[in-house]
Amino acid sequence: MRLSGEEVRNLHKYELKVLQIIERHMQRYDWVPREIITRSSGYSDGEVAYRLGQLLEKGFIKFEAVPYEGYALVFAGYDVIALRSLASKDIVTSLGPFIGEGKESVVYEAMGLGPLAIKLHRIGQRAFRQVRIKREYLPREGHCPWLLASHYSAQREYDALKKLVSTVNVPVPIGINRHAVVMSYLEGSPLNRVTVSDPREVLTLILEEIRKSCQLGVIHGDLSEYNVIVDEDRVYLIDWPQWVETRHQNAPAFLEHDIRTILGFFKKKYRMDVPYDEAMERVLQ
Ligand SMILES: Nc1ncnc2c1ncn2[C@@H]1O[C@H](COP(=O)(O)OP(=O)(O)OP(=O)(O)O)[C@@H](O)[C@H]1O
Ligand SMILES: [Mg+2]
Repeated sequence: MRLSGEEVRNLHKYELKVLQIIERHMQRYDWVPREIITRSSGYSDGEVAYRLGQLLEKGFIKFEAVPYEGYALVFAGYDVIALRSLASKDIVTSLGPFIGEGKESVVYEAMGLGPLAIKLHRIGQRAFRQVRIKREYLPREGHCPWLLASHYSAQREYDALKKLVSTVNVPVPIGINRHAVVMSYLEGSPLNRVTVSDPREVLTLILEEIRKSCQLGVIHGDLSEYNVIVDEDRVYLIDWPQWVETRHQNAPAFLEHDIRTILGFFKKKYRMDVPYDEAMERVLQ
């Protein structure tokens, strides 16, 4: 489901409060009982029923009748709470078009003090178990794993951007709320979607960014042509939630994976045969 700025703005304050109550109680319940919502809100039964109806219709929550009447947040509802919160702090002043949907996020353009990208992390719901195996940092227990995992993933990405931004070409981290990371909007295109005129130079630039992040103790861990943005004579590395520290036991394997993936891309698309050892040497300089 794609959100518009209008939908976020038009969310009535009672609807927002009901959503926040459901969010809070999802730490304890898979389905938050209606009477708990009523009690926590202080609204009348009729008011709560009406607001829940509106939220269901908008696709922000879901409903289960058995064994008791209960409500649960879905991603769209979590998105809207985060976006309203970012708006109330003036971090985001308007929501722009949807840019992309990955396996583990949706990204929107937005405006704040300048052009922004908002990445709403989406870890889990269906494939949570597999994701947890891949991403060992995820919480292991508790209710509503997707909500916690998505929040955690956003925090990880934000932390990486903060560590890197002074030295490495990454989006500037602007703010975070729940599972939403707000960062500067990058012009340019993902490496997989452009044909560069000087691939040797672009590869050199990418290896240089990898080198600088290693020096700061950070390994990307999921680098590929999809996570490199090329803008004129610069390259940016994006998509950092799975980063690891260089002292992490799997860091060498992650670094090798990153370098081999990038070299593989240049070999396939540009017929460039740069040996792995040579690339690694440049990164470890
Ligand atoms: N700061 C940004 N500025 C401009 N565009 C961005 C920015 N961050 C992300 N995007 C766009 O959104 C897409 C998805 O972002 P990202 O790679 O971080 O998420 P993802 O969950 O890995 O998605 P995928 O699974 O498709 O790789 C990117 O390919 C890029 O086109
Ligand atoms: Mg990506």
